[in-house]
Amino acid sequence: MRLNDCHNVEDFRRLAKWRLPWPVFDYIDGGADDEITKARNTAAYADCDLVPNVLAGMADIDSSVTILGRRSALPLILSPTALQRIFHWQGERAVARAADAFGLWFGISSLSTVSIEDIAAIVSGPKLFQFYYHKDRGLNRSMIERCKAAKFDAIALTVDTIVSGKRERCARSGFTSPPRFTLSSALSYAIKPRWALDYLFRDSFALPNLDTHVREGTDKAVSVADYINGMLDPSIDWKMAQQLREDWGGTFCLKGIMSVADARRAVEIGADAIMLSNHGGRQLDGSRAPFDHLPEIVDAVGGQIEIICDGGIRRGTHVLKALAAGADCASGGRFYLYALAAAGQAGVERAIGLLKDEIERGMHLLGVKSLDQLDRSHLRWRD
Ligand code: LAC
Repeated sequence: MRLNDCHNVEDFRRLAKWRLPWPVFDYIDGGADDEITKARNTAAYADCDLVPNVLAGMADIDSSVTILGRRSALPLILSPTALQRIFHWQGERAVARAADAFGLWFGISSLSTVSIEDIAAIVSGPKLFQFYYHKDRGLNRSMIERCKAAKFDAIALTVDTIVSGKRERCARSGFTSPPRFTLSSALSYAIKPRWALDYLFRDSFALPNLDTHVREGTDKAVSVADYINGMLDPSIDWKMAQQLREDWGGTFCLKGIMSVADARRAVEIGADAIMLSNHGGRQLDGSRAPFDHLPEIVDAVGGQIEIICDGGIRRGTHVLKALAAGADCASGGRFYLYALAAAGQAGVERAIGLLKDEIERGMHLLGVKSLDQLDRSHLRWRD
């Protein structure tokens, strides 16, 4: 199977599985507990049907939106995800350049393997920084200052990960950052020599947004669960989130809001956007899927704050359904991570290109010339 054989996200997933050592693939692919929420994030879209209008004179369409104060060529954000250098040697650079080529927002994680400064140097397009609130206040200040100096366009504070979800695939594989080559894991790496050579002989692995303050994750191998449980501050509350927004002073998003009450508080503290998200089903298993919950949130705070529906996106029609239900934009991680792992920047570009085609085809077939024409009249939920 080669890149040209990939025609949808599932194809990229298969190619990624073929190319990656299984502990790495399982880190990307896995969710928490029984992975019910992870599966539901995508399945929710299949429980809602589209109702098209025809004969609408569809010669020209416009698939762009304004989100977080910037124009985006598609209503789709590449959500921030951690540790990309482990998935492909080009890491976050590949994702940043691919997003830039298509005029899309992308995010880097606090746990990114390319620094805030290096990303800013290669991409002029809109970029957000995903902020993990650490116990180390000096580290928190440093990340904010670095984002300001590098002129990042927005910060998304993750609020659904104060302790780690129970990721059993990672517990079984012993996956760590950086990857630790133990006797038992050695075979899984040795049977993927191309990955292993790229990992060992290309740029060395680091977490450059964090390694000024903590050794864990860069010099000291730890599981992601141990990193989250040891380093992040579970005492974070609304006051601290508001203070962070003030310290940053720029466009601010809360990532991982689910309840109406919390969405209202996000409005109250002056957040510009919420990402309706369950962290790709990697945290609280049994949590509701963003698309299932979207109408309630839109009815409560739509128009007062931007709503980004995050997770489960595998098709252009999923993005269109989210917008028809009232989201301002959709976002996702795995859809581009599988492609990154499969083929680096070329893979991510192909994945975005396929979704762009699907979104545009979907607009033509729905009879929607611009995305503000999408509304709930285009949707029917099955009983
Ligand atoms: C994860 C964290 C690191 O989901 O965002 O693995």
